[in-house]
Amino acid sequence: MSMKDPNIIDVLGEWMVYWFGSSLYKDYIRGLGLVGDEKVLDLGCGGGACARCILEFLSRGGALTCVDISEFWLSKAEKRMRKYDNAEFVSGEISELGVEDSSYDVVFIHFVLHDIERGQRETTVDALSRKLKPGGRLFIREPTKESHGMPAREVKDLMKAAGLREVWSEEGKSILLGPMYAGRYRKTV
Ligand SMILES: C[S@@+](CC[C@H](N)C(=O)[O-])C[C@H]1O[C@@H](n2cnc3c(N)ncnc32)[C@H](O)[C@@H]1O
Repeated sequence: MSMKDPNIIDVLGEWMVYWFGSSLYKDYIRGLGLVGDEKVLDLGCGGGACARCILEFLSRGGALTCVDISEFWLSKAEKRMRKYDNAEFVSGEISELGVEDSSYDVVFIHFVLHDIERGQRETTVDALSRKLKPGGRLFIREPTKESHGMPAREVKDLMKAAGLREVWSEEGKSILLGPMYAGRYRKTV
């Protein structure tokens, strides 16, 4: 998905992942150890493939804020998630939104940062770090393919510069999603 202005191939690809890849997403999200009462921010929610799984785990009073720069994907996610009353949908750049600082337990980023222009990535990660409560956690997975992705080293450097300490990471490959970096971070200040 390139994705801000999707073409028919992007829409079809997302539809396939949404309906046939959800067990992969669910396994990943289950492994993050959400308790269910967290306030979670999903940056670049797209059509909601991950958001739907996150919401299933927020069964103890938790809430989800879905943010996306694309009105197309945000409204698709909102329609698909309409049965949940603990989800909100916000459109725009995270660094410019009036989302309250230090108010989230978890920031979730799945295949988004590589789609943001290099020059804008630092501003985005800084803004996300500010949204986290002290001790809050950030989970990220990004593709590392040279043709469409970003190096794991770049993710690690951006996080460190934003005051986020890596507590776990892995570089691996999935049949559906290709080579990728997964990292878990904690806000240290
Ligand atoms: C490849 S899709 C991933 C969607 C979803 N996270 C998933 O894994 O299924 C990338 C999404 O990030 C969004 N996006 C790109 N730049 C963004 C930005 N600066 N702020 C918020 N969302 C952005 C795109 O509109 C798109 O919906």
